[in-house]
Amino acid sequence: MFMFLGTPAFTQTPVPVKVLIQAIDATHWQPLVTQFNQTHPNIQLQVVKGPNNTNLVEDLYTSAFLLGDSPYDLVYMDIVWVQKFAAAGWLADLSDRMTPEELNVYLQGDIEGGRYQGKLYRIPFQTDGGMLYYRRDLLEQIGAAPPETFAELMTIAKTLQERNLVEWGYVWQGKQYEGLSAMFVEILAGYGGFWIDPQMQAVGLDEAQAIAAVEFLRDTLAEGISPPGVTTYSEEETRRLFQNGKAAFLRNWPYVYSLASDSDLAGKFAIKPMMHTPGNTSGACLGGWGLGMAKSSQHPDAAWQAIEYFNQPEVQRQYFQQTGYVPARRSLFYDSQLITESNYLPRLLPVLDNSVLRPPIPQYAQASDILQRYLSAALTGRETPQRAMELAAKETRVLLSRGGG
Ligand code: GLC
Repeated sequence: MFMFLGTPAFTQTPVPVKVLIQAIDATHWQPLVTQFNQTHPNIQLQVVKGPNNTNLVEDLYTSAFLLGDSPYDLVYMDIVWVQKFAAAGWLADLSDRMTPEELNVYLQGDIEGGRYQGKLYRIPFQTDGGMLYYRRDLLEQIGAAPPETFAELMTIAKTLQERNLVEWGYVWQGKQYEGLSAMFVEILAGYGGFWIDPQMQAVGLDEAQAIAAVEFLRDTLAEGISPPGVTTYSEEETRRLFQNGKAAFLRNWPYVYSLASDSDLAGKFAIKPMMHTPGNTSGACLGGWGLGMAKSSQHPDAAWQAIEYFNQPEVQRQYFQQTGYVPARRSLFYDSQLITESNYLPRLLPVLDNSVLRPPIPQYAQASDILQRYLSAALTGRETPQRAMELAAKETRVLLSRGGG
């Protein structure tokens, strides 16, 4: 009888590396995962599909870590989760795995957002920055320049609606979820306000600029520039309205560009930084996703090999070509092949370079939840902007005074 002496390496059971990601991204990841597993026969990258809402995926990771014995080796993190997860001790310190030169290739905000108390916990994969999409063709028809200020946007939107050139003026993310906070930091920045200053432990939500920012959003609804449904919309609902030609302006992330370019809207729209008031500058919210490693992982070396794979320029290039999700590596913004295919790419870089992080604090999830609740109350008319923001500021101050994560 024939007998094996020892087991050759290639017949070993592959080491499983598990990661939980949003369902929509799991589909996008499929070709990369297949490629990784083919080129790394000793590892099997397994993707668990989560909901599409970032908060819900964060909750799933949180319960898995709190219960102990988390099944996940990798953590595919929204930039706003890092502080909380790191402070809770759930993530492995990756500082020694990357040299400063290797980190230099990324957008600075993406790296900063991946640090907690000087240590690095997240390697960026895909970056995001909020911007204004507008219907160039419609603006040309009425001889309007793209809006710089909030007031200009309102005037142009109204004119287009009055002339029956478009149904809605402006669509944005008004549902009570993380996207509402992300969108609001941009309006806030445009009004010269702030949410939380982590250094000073100060809260700016009840200052005049913040209240004016909420009033602007309320006005878009009150004046019929934004559809009433906006208070229930996340990114995808707003993209569909814009892409179907139903809205003149849209606030969204860069992924919309490639989808809208493949639709009837091709050639009819353009992008620019968000609006601001005279004397203030535009703010883009820095979003984006990257990989961290669970401290509890039994397979840290295999997990790191997966991170290294996603870190490669060729992989980030392929992902952008396939999905329109913008790479975290700066060099790809100058990549001639990508620019030929997607000529808007270089225009994104200044927007992203000027983007702002949501408050990088371990209690971010709670702070954002407070903001979302009161903003939603103001937007749906349950509170006045002033009272909503006063209550939000008060609760946020209590949260910060409790310290910890
Ligand atoms: C995008 C951004 C992320 C943000 C989320 C809000 O996924 O990359 O940072 O939190 O949208 O919906």
